[in-house]
Amino acid sequence: MEVVIVKDAKAGGELIAGAVADLLARKPDALLGVATGSTPLPIYDALIAKVRGGGVDASRARICQLDEYVGLPAGHPESYRATVLRQVVEPLGLPAEQFMGPDGSAADVQAACEAYEEALAAAGGVDLQILGIGTDGHIGFNEPCSSLASRTRIKTLTEQTRIDNARFFGNDIEQVPHHVITQGIGTILDARHLVLLATGEGKAEAVAQTVEGPVASLVPASALQLHPRATVVVDEAAASKLKLAEYFRHAYDNKPEWQGI
Ligand code: PGA
Repeated sequence: MEVVIVKDAKAGGELIAGAVADLLARKPDALLGVATGSTPLPIYDALIAKVRGGGVDASRARICQLDEYVGLPAGHPESYRATVLRQVVEPLGLPAEQFMGPDGSAADVQAACEAYEEALAAAGGVDLQILGIGTDGHIGFNEPCSSLASRTRIKTLTEQTRIDNARFFGNDIEQVPHHVITQGIGTILDARHLVLLATGEGKAEAVAQTVEGPVASLVPASALQLHPRATVVVDEAAASKLKLAEYFRHAYDNKPEWQGI
């Protein structure tokens, strides 16, 4: 696992957008897995700016969702489909055919989960998966004690996650669904490159457990330790509980530039 400590969220966004740009230069139709929430927004802002500035051609990029609420009416503005369309797909100027996600309004949720697994495989797998992290260590919506081998399936949110996400629903926790579809941890680990961004002091404990704690389903993000190419990008606040922070800084400062992240 590589840990990169950056000055702030904007620098993290720039760094990761640069990695996406490098990927698209190598593989113009790369499948980019995107996360929702507040943390990844600086990545999307930086990527959109690069595309609009003409420095990056993302016209053939394909985008896929990590997770989705179950039971919101189709087209609900806080569904993750609507969110990713608004924050990523439309600003990049991509047609809806280059975007896929699980159907959170399907009558048969299990079938929707299986269909999404099949769609990801048929698309050739995810090339780069952007991840956030919950204060409880979740990735996607894989809450603590999710199987580290799990595939896309329905999960029940913890109350903490519903509280954390109430801000997207007018601060009314009653509006936050209890159920979600999420790529499983096994599904996420199939991506070729995992890039997790964490910013702010509220994530420091989850980051420390993810990077320096044991691999344990209690901290789902710790499964990144099992991936051959996982990059954790953290700002100073999110890095504040890392015992090896100085080593991570030293390693990155001395990394050959051509390696990227
Ligand atoms: P956040 O969400 O970026 O809004 O903090 C992260 C997550 O729950 O994965």
